[in-house]
Amino acid sequence: MGTWLEGKPVADRIRENVRQEAEHYQQAHGAVPGLVGVLVGENPASQSYLRMKEKACRSLGFFGQILYLPGDTTREGLKIRIEALNDDDKVDGILVQLPLPKGFDTHEVISWIDPEKDVDGIHPYSLGLLLQNLPGPRACTPLGVLELIKSTGERIEGKDVVVIGRSLIVGKPLAAMITNENGTVTICHSKTKDLAGVAARADILVAAMGKPGFVGPEFVKAGAVVIDVGSNAVTDPAVVRALFGDDPKRGKEIQDKGYTWVGDVQPRVIDKAKWLTPSPGGVGPLTIAMLMKNTLEAFKRRRRF
Ligand code: GUN
Repeated sequence: MGTWLEGKPVADRIRENVRQEAEHYQQAHGAVPGLVGVLVGENPASQSYLRMKEKACRSLGFFGQILYLPGDTTREGLKIRIEALNDDDKVDGILVQLPLPKGFDTHEVISWIDPEKDVDGIHPYSLGLLLQNLPGPRACTPLGVLELIKSTGERIEGKDVVVIGRSLIVGKPLAAMITNENGTVTICHSKTKDLAGVAARADILVAAMGKPGFVGPEFVKAGAVVIDVGSNAVTDPAVVRALFGDDPKRGKEIQDKGYTWVGDVQPRVIDKAKWLTPSPGGVGPLTIAMLMKNTLEAFKRRRRF
């Protein structure tokens, strides 16, 4: 039986350090870090993520704002708004919430952000710095995954690490970060042969493919560290019961809201793993803490503090 690896204590520690540092700069220079989140359309999950990020900004004394743009915003319209944020001196960080509505080219939109303000670490320039193992902004969720692993006292160097999922914001940057930490990394995806067999060789397993409860005990080596990046809204109580057991809290949530959040990993994996992050409550708090840290770093770089 392993131990649940909660995100909040680790995230609280990082946020408190960020808050203290920001307070110092405010007192010394009268300036605060500024972050703007851009939301195109009305995706409810994206709205709720951005509100949490805005709230985190306020709690740390940052300037934080959400720019709401309608779903029928044109390519040119979005480009003009991003360029205005690039030129706005009080804005240190720009985050375009993903996924964008159909019709937008995500890579093109991200490339419009001034790399100095890329607090998501997914601009092509930032990703180039990452591959060269040079300092620069790094994607928030992978940074959070590394912080969680390190908080257990487990070392990454020399370990077999398997990442399931190859997204731009999690799987790919995480694989590069683990390589930079001298881990031996395998990225798996929907075309991987014998996915469970490959995963079961991992000392550290990261599930980041966005499939509710996909990872069961057969994917896990005894004593592995398992990090669940998945955050999926599930509406069917039968699916929740089959994969996540009879959890009255989740049942009630479906009744009240019509859905409940679940991870990519089945909770019964705790019987086999040494550590397992819950979802929600594991990686999520770290993503926001690392975004605040990235915003503070962008603020310091831009203002030459
Ligand atoms: N959508 C889900 N996670 C993220 C994230 O970390 N950054 C952005 N921009 N969009 C997301």
